[in-house]
Amino acid sequence: MSDSIDSIDDPIDSDSINASESPAGEGVNHPKARIRSFVVRPGRMGTGQVRALAELGPRFVLPFKDEALDYEAAFGRQAPVVFEIGFGMGAATAQIAQALPDIDFIGCEVHEPGVGALLKLIGEQDIANIRIFQHDAFEVLGAMIPKGSLAGVHIYFPDPWHKKRHNKRRLVQPPFIAKLVQHVAPGGYLHLATDWEPYAQQMLEVLSGDPDLVNTSTRADGYADKPEYRPLTKFENRGLKLGHGVWDLVFKRKA
Ligand SMILES: C[S@@+](CC[C@H](N)C(=O)[O-])C[C@H]1O[C@@H](n2cnc3c(N)ncnc32)[C@H](O)[C@@H]1O
Repeated sequence: MSDSIDSIDDPIDSDSINASESPAGEGVNHPKARIRSFVVRPGRMGTGQVRALAELGPRFVLPFKDEALDYEAAFGRQAPVVFEIGFGMGAATAQIAQALPDIDFIGCEVHEPGVGALLKLIGEQDIANIRIFQHDAFEVLGAMIPKGSLAGVHIYFPDPWHKKRHNKRRLVQPPFIAKLVQHVAPGGYLHLATDWEPYAQQMLEVLSGDPDLVNTSTRADGYADKPEYRPLTKFENRGLKLGHGVWDLVFKRKA
């Protein structure tokens, strides 16, 4: 789901995935050796986004490096850190960061107009607790995020890759989740949301199958009620009015 990203969802119509690529989540530091969960496409940048990139990029966009990120140096304070994969245009990220000022947020997004859009919101709303990587989250995680360091991870409406032959591009697969969990502190959480039921089922199956995670849900279906801090997007609101579902999942790393 995305409000204003040009349909990034399932952008490949032919079966053009390189057969030599390994399953998602493997070879995190060797991007050519695995299937990517995204396709980078040039998008139109608004003038506000271009200006925000130029003016605020140097302060809020962190360079990708093959070394551990010093959170205190990046944010200028010590606080719990939440990592978001694929923030799209950043509307939810900005709202959550405003609602939770005592938490620092690292957002990864490969789509440049999305990075510009979030920077614009950061400037307009004077948000101090967000830093951005315009880079593949797999690689940021593997190279820069220390193990056991994250208070939480957000993955909202990841590309569902509807076609069966593209399902392997989905982010939420056992090898990637096993890797991701290692970077979460004991007791820290993973919060996922999707509006695509088959992907919700896959998420539930993958997270439930990870031996280091426990489901926080008390509901019979295993899904979580939407936590207060996650805002409804415009798109989601519209979908809900039309009777479409949205599924949240909140799991914790075992202490
Ligand atoms: C369907 S959009 C959802 C955006 C946003 N979370 C929302 O709820 O509107 C998924 C986003 O994830 C990004 N993405 C997918 N894989 C990624 C990766 N490995 N690293 C960084 N961003 C990624 C895509 O560029 C896309 O913008």
